[in-house]
Amino acid sequence: MIEIIDLKKHFGPKHILRGVNLKIEEGKTLAVIGGSGTGKSTLIKCIIRLLEPDGGKILFNNKDITHIKKQMELAKLRRSFGYLFQEGALFDSLSVGENVVFGLKYLTDTPKSEYARIAKEKLALVGLKGIEHLRPSELSGGMKKRVSLARVLATEPKVILYDEPTSGLDPIMSEIINELIIDLKNKLGVTSVVITHDMKSAFEISDNMAMLYEGKV
Ligand SMILES: Nc1ncnc2c1ncn2[C@@H]1O[C@H](COP(=O)(O)OP(=O)(O)OP(=O)(O)O)[C@@H](O)[C@H]1O
Ligand SMILES: [Mg+2]
Repeated sequence: MIEIIDLKKHFGPKHILRGVNLKIEEGKTLAVIGGSGTGKSTLIKCIIRLLEPDGGKILFNNKDITHIKKQMELAKLRRSFGYLFQEGALFDSLSVGENVVFGLKYLTDTPKSEYARIAKEKLALVGLKGIEHLRPSELSGGMKKRVSLARVLATEPKVILYDEPTSGLDPIMSEIINELIIDLKNKLGVTSVVITHDMKSAFEISDNMAMLYEGKV
């Protein structure tokens, strides 16, 4: 489904990705591991084109998406993806409920009357009930992470890129999130890339594992 060929990315003199090759099969979960600063987040940002690669290719369903420039085409591409940001990236000025349904307005034709139900349902999936009215500033770190995950789930993406989905969560909540990732794969056939430092979870959830080291897999 996704093929990464000789991908390169540098920031000034720092060469982060030095020729990454990876294949991600449809309906499978790939765990990406590697030390801090090795470029894991950079890699998935290139996949969804939040960053533009300097070299190499990214194919999505055999289509080269490496240098898409048109906003329309980028939007279409991103509609297939969900991205769980490492830092959560919630909007402080919106309530939890508004955060969860934020993407629906831009990415789907879901009628507005459905928003409240969807927010409730997706929050329940991540173990959070009845917090729609709260603001992100009223949440703990782990709760923010789970609200971000609920937001990813709201648009029902085909591919989910998870950047450290269980960091900052207690073992019980980590287990719930791991099971959710496995469930999404088994029940909905979601394809996933999961960046994680948690080796137990990496073994539990993934079909394949890739380790980034010195800019390569
Ligand atoms: N937008 C940017 N501009 C300049 N340098 C960047 C940028 N994004 C990342 N970097 C640098 O690229 C390197 C890789 O960063 P990245 O966030 O991909 O690491 P990571 O493997 O996700 O680390 P962690 O496990 O700590 O999250 C780091 O040295 C970082 O400073
Ligand atoms: Mg990172």
